[in-house]
Amino acid sequence: MPADQPTSSRANRRWWDADADDYHAEHGAFLGDADLVWCPEDLRESQVGLLGELTGRRVLEVGCGAASCARWVRRQGADVVAFDLSAGMLEHARAGAGRTGTTVPLVQADVCALPFADGAFDVAFSAFGAVPFVAESGSAMTEVARVLRPGGRWVFSATHPMRWMFADDPGPAGLTVIQSYFDRTPYVEVDEAGVPAYVEHHRTLGDRIRELVAAGFTVLDVIEPEWPEGFTGTWGQWSPERGALFPGTAVYVSERRIG
Ligand SMILES: C[S@@+](CC[C@H](N)C(=O)[O-])C[C@H]1O[C@@H](n2cnc3c(N)ncnc32)[C@H](O)[C@@H]1O
Repeated sequence: MPADQPTSSRANRRWWDADADDYHAEHGAFLGDADLVWCPEDLRESQVGLLGELTGRRVLEVGCGAASCARWVRRQGADVVAFDLSAGMLEHARAGAGRTGTTVPLVQADVCALPFADGAFDVAFSAFGAVPFVAESGSAMTEVARVLRPGGRWVFSATHPMRWMFADDPGPAGLTVIQSYFDRTPYVEVDEAGVPAYVEHHRTLGDRIRELVAAGFTVLDVIEPEWPEGFTGTWGQWSPERGALFPGTAVYVSERRIG
């Protein structure tokens, strides 16, 4: 069913508030207290350096959840601000700061209306935060571009668009195409009263690149991490069986155009 921006925002804030404890009970050990893991394929920023030099940089984490990525970036010598739509997720960010002693400023905000000044950051990034959950993802890209200085970098990971065609299943059932890659109708779960309780939006690879370009970014790379040999970790629909056959994640690396 359709879900506009206010509906998506309302549903997802409620969803992530309610799911925050379960999400961290299930994935907290894999994510770590201060580490930047890009995706279930276990790609870590310490291996790939997609954000470039961080020392002394002003960095924004988008859809930070428990902000373990922001704490890792802080430890590389950057000034970091982390924001999320969900107060429940930000509670976990506060707890993470308490456990590690590494603190970053936390803000509750929607990626489509950022409470930051133009050009306030050198780098913005997100590991599976915010982007897949907004109806108006073009506006989200424009907002991120606005708060970056010209030449600033924007790197984010999200579910690879081709996964949209398959059932959300880590096993054999997740290997059969069940819907069109080109069907942009959002995935919506409703509660007993029929009110949207979770919303995810699909963009094809081309859609995503066009949004970035329209917002003023140059796309430098789209990384499709391969499943690491011998890696047996699973995360929801991500599994070694599926990872051996097709990508589960896309990491978009872009820079705000100068002029
Ligand atoms: C899959 S979690 C990822 C969290 C974190 N980046 C991580 O790696 O664990 C998605 C996050 O995006 C946040 N989110 C969803 N919609 C958002 C929006 N419109 N603006 C900001 N954050 C949003 C959720 O609250 C949630 O914390």
